[in-house]
Amino acid sequence: MKKVLVTHQLPGERIHHLAQCSDVNVWMGPGLLSAQALREELADCAGLVCLLTDRIDAGLIDAMPALEFVSSMSVGVDHIDVEAATRRGIPVGHTPGVLVETTADATFGLLLAAARRMSEADRFIRQGNWRAENAWSPDFFTGKDVAGATLGIIGLGEIGQAVARRAAGFGMEVLAWNRTPREVAGVEQVSLEELLLRSDFVSVHVALSEETRGLLDAERIAQMKPGAVLVNTARGGIVDEQALADALSHGNLYAAGIDVFEQEPVPDDNPLLHLPNVVLAPHIGSATAQTRAMMADIAAENAIAALSGAPMPYCVNAAVYD
Ligand code: DGY
Repeated sequence: MKKVLVTHQLPGERIHHLAQCSDVNVWMGPGLLSAQALREELADCAGLVCLLTDRIDAGLIDAMPALEFVSSMSVGVDHIDVEAATRRGIPVGHTPGVLVETTADATFGLLLAAARRMSEADRFIRQGNWRAENAWSPDFFTGKDVAGATLGIIGLGEIGQAVARRAAGFGMEVLAWNRTPREVAGVEQVSLEELLLRSDFVSVHVALSEETRGLLDAERIAQMKPGAVLVNTARGGIVDEQALADALSHGNLYAAGIDVFEQEPVPDDNPLLHLPNVVLAPHIGSATAQTRAMMADIAAENAIAALSGAPMPYCVNAAVYD
């Protein structure tokens, strides 16, 4: 049987089927697999089932002559050098679809929490600051209205569209920018510049790639409507964190809800960590037990297909099958 490395214990059912048709080695920890341990464990393996925390770069791929496929339990594949894999004819699997609604829920949660200062309010009570002398007043913890506001969605893929559906329920005007314009009922297609200019809330839903790295840089952040809120549940590298922190601390932007960071886990000196008007989350957009099990099942499914010589059902570089 072919050897397959699985870099973490996975939920779901299909992983057991993978174990029946291959010689599976599951990394049991402690902790995540280091780059060095990944290199050692992957030697001689025909397959790799990995997470978004595993860096699968060209050097690693080139050092693994036996490697036949990579299946990631993630929709994003920016941790994998897909070009290098394609050059070797290695299919790369991912897990689209199943995390759409869960991620859209988390996006809306961050949007609401940032607009209505929920984390700040929570800290206020826990730190013992809610006392008789400041029990309530007309301007006490006032936030920003979501209902009826304008939402700009950057990237109108499946998750962007799911966020648009939620926004419709809040009576929001929805604008979107997509690299290739996409007709979606109730969503006005605009240029990125117009979106930034008009939106009270901006939510990022593009994949991280060479084209989108730094898409929201200092110049674009400066184009945002004064007092707007930025939400990012896509990838950290898309937003310039220092420029965002500057805009938030100078009052140009009202708040932000951030689930993803340039460097994860986030280092202590990240400028966003020390701002009261940023709601932070540790990359949990798709984190429900049900969704994670479905993602793991698809990752196993992709691996099982590759082992049997069939095309992966969810492959980002299907050109390898031509
Ligand atoms: C993914 O699958 O790429 C997501 O970021 C996980 O939440």
